Amino acid sequence: MTASLGRPVAAHLDTTTVREDFPILRRLAHGHRLVYLDSAATSQKPRQVLDALRSYYENSNANVHRGVYLLAEEATELYEAARVRVARFIGASSAEEVIFTRNATEAINLVAYTWGQETIGSGDTIAVSALEHHSNFVPWQVLAANRSAQVDVVDLTSEGTLDLDCLDRMLMEKRVRLVAIAGISNVMGTINPLSDIVDLAHGHGAMVLVDAAQMAPHMTMDVRRLDADFVAFTGHKMLAPMGIGVLWAREQLLQSMPPFLFGGEMIRRVTERETTWNDLPWKFEAGTPNVEGAIGLASAIDYLEQIGMKQIRAHEKALVAYALHRLADIPGASILGPRDPALRGGVIAFTVGDIHPHDLASILDRRHGVCIRAGHHCAQPLHERLGLSASARASFYLYNDFEDVDVLCDAIQTAKAVMG
Ligand SMILES: Cc1ncc(COP(=O)(O)O)c(C=O)c1O
Repeated sequence: MTASLGRPVAAHLDTTTVREDFPILRRLAHGHRLVYLDSAATSQKPRQVLDALRSYYENSNANVHRGVYLLAEEATELYEAARVRVARFIGASSAEEVIFTRNATEAINLVAYTWGQETIGSGDTIAVSALEHHSNFVPWQVLAANRSAQVDVVDLTSEGTLDLDCLDRMLMEKRVRLVAIAGISNVMGTINPLSDIVDLAHGHGAMVLVDAAQMAPHMTMDVRRLDADFVAFTGHKMLAPMGIGVLWAREQLLQSMPPFLFGGEMIRRVTERETTWNDLPWKFEAGTPNVEGAIGLASAIDYLEQIGMKQIRAHEKALVAYALHRLADIPGASILGPRDPALRGGVIAFTVGDIHPHDLASILDRRHGVCIRAGHHCAQPLHERLGLSASARASFYLYNDFEDVDVLCDAIQTAKAVMG
C-alpha cells in the first residue's frame, strides 16, 4: 500500500496532464504502474517529440547542406532552425556558437582535442572537481598525460558541496589553465556555485568548461550571464533522442580553435595538396549530422519552455524535499550530498544498510515497478572518496509526482524486509 500521509500536492506542475504526454508511462512494469526514477541516465520522450521525428521522416528526410531539391532544402532548414532554437534556449549570441555533437561526452572531447592540445603545455594544471562524471574527468586525464600536464581534484566539504577555498588555493599555487566543472552533480545532486567558480577562475586567468549535462534539462541556463568559456550538454537527458549533444563557446574562441574531426561538411575547399576549413559552426561538424536528433532537440526545448523551466525546477525541488524527508524516516537509509533541497537538483543517491545497490534496484523493479540506477554512475573517483563501491540513485523529472516518491519509499521497505 502506498503511504500518502503528508504527501504535498503538486503546486508547480499539473503532473497528471504532463504524464499524459509520455506514452511510455502508460505501460506496466512487472504488472505495476511504471515509476521511472532514472531520468539522470536518460529521460523519457513526450508525444510531441516523437511526432516531430515521425513528421521529419514522413515529409522532409534528405541529407542536409547538399541537395538543391525541395526535400534537401527543407531538411537543411529544419536542421539549422533547430540550431537557432538551441541558441535561443541557452541565451547564445548567435547560432554559430552552437556546435552539434553526439552528446556531452563528445562536446567535452572536442574541447580537449582542439583547444586543449593547442593550449595545455608542460607543467600546466587542469582543475576538476571530485564530483565529476567520467566524461568530464577522463578526457582531461588523457590530455594531461599527452601534454606533460596534470589534473588536480578540487575537494568537497563534508556536506558534499565544492570546497571553494581548495579551488582558490589551487588557482593561486598552480598554473591552472582550465577549471572543468559540472553544473549539477549526477550523484550528489549538488548545484555548484558556477558564478563564484567562473569569477575565481577568470581572476586567475583560467578558462572554465561547464558540464551542463544535468543542468540544462532542469534549470534556466543563460550562457552569456554564466560567462563560462565552454558549456556542454546532451539532448537525451532533456526529452530529446539519444545521439545529439551541444557544445557552446563564444564565436571568437571557436574561430581560434582547430577542427576536431576531418572529412566531409567541415571543409571549404579541398585540393589534392591541402584543405581549408568551413565557417562556424560547420567547421566542427564533420560528416552527415544527426538531423533527426537536432529536430527532436528543438521540439524537446519547445516542450520544456511551454511548461516553463522555472516551474520544472520548482517542481523537482518540491519532489526532492519530500523524498529527502521520507527517506530520512527509513532506518539504515543514508543519503549522499547536501540535505538542503535548495542546494541540489533532482538527483538523490543513497545506500540502505548493507543491501547491495544492485539487489536493491532489482527488488524495486520486480516487486514495485520502480526504475532506479545502481552502480558508480560513471563517478568512480567520487565513490572511492566516499568509501563506496556503488550507490543507488533515484532521479526526478517533470513527469514524476509525489506518488512516485511514496512508491519508492515503500519499495525500499520491501527490499529491507526481503534482504533483512
Ligand atoms: C554530469 C554528467 N556529465 C556528462 C554525462 C555524459 O552524458 P552523455 O553520455 O550523454 O555524453 C552525464 C551522463 O550521465 C552526466 O551525468
